[in-house]
Amino acid sequence: MIVVLDGPAGTGKSTVSREIAARLGLSFLDTGAMYRAMTHWLLQNGVDVDDADAVALASAKPVILSGTDASGPTITVDGVDVSGPIRGAAVTAAVSAVSAVPEVRVRMVDLQRHSAEEAPVGIVAEGRDLGTVVFPDADLKVFLTASAGIRAVRRAAQLGVTGPEQIAAILADIERRDAADSGRATSPLAKADDAIEVDTSAMEPEEVITHILGLVRQRV
Ligand code: C5P
Repeated sequence: MIVVLDGPAGTGKSTVSREIAARLGLSFLDTGAMYRAMTHWLLQNGVDVDDADAVALASAKPVILSGTDASGPTITVDGVDVSGPIRGAAVTAAVSAVSAVPEVRVRMVDLQRHSAEEAPVGIVAEGRDLGTVVFPDADLKVFLTASAGIRAVRRAAQLGVTGPEQIAAILADIERRDAADSGRATSPLAKADDAIEVDTSAMEPEEVITHILGLVRQRV
């Protein structure tokens, strides 16, 4: 079984998809973490992330592996756990440029499909292009949305930030990434025609989880 959740940053995708995977006993795949891991490696290795040719060439090198252990999802690059650094500001600022490079996407999509094949029972995957490109035949496709303002407040709460200026900076970053992810030529952020849209603006995570579990039950 393949369940995909796509949508922009801050819609609750990660929390919700992780929990749905746990409750259904399915594997979990955070595809954003893979693009972040690639970006982290490129930055560490001095590659200019705004030079698409350099990124395309270098992106063949790192070995990126995502999995799950007792404490939750894991992501390694060349055997090193990068779960912490990939959430930092430097990676967040650079990841949209890296993920717009077609060669990067081809590699990541291969890895993502491989993860689904390897999953013992099935997979819940979250990202931007999973319903449209990576898993067009998924059993259930959900597209999560929420207003940009709500998403910024949620992200700020996650980061423990309360100042209005910091929240405004997070909002600006979310809007910049939304525009870059939706406007890129290759595999933009988009709702698949057969995806079910869920606006989470006024919903608690548990409500979203219950709603999506109900949709899963209708399909199996
Ligand atoms: O989900 P997260 O915010 O961690 O994703 C980071 C970035 O990775 C996104 O802003 C987007 O540029 C890229 N991404 C992507 N395709 C995916 C998942 C993430 O292009 N399937």
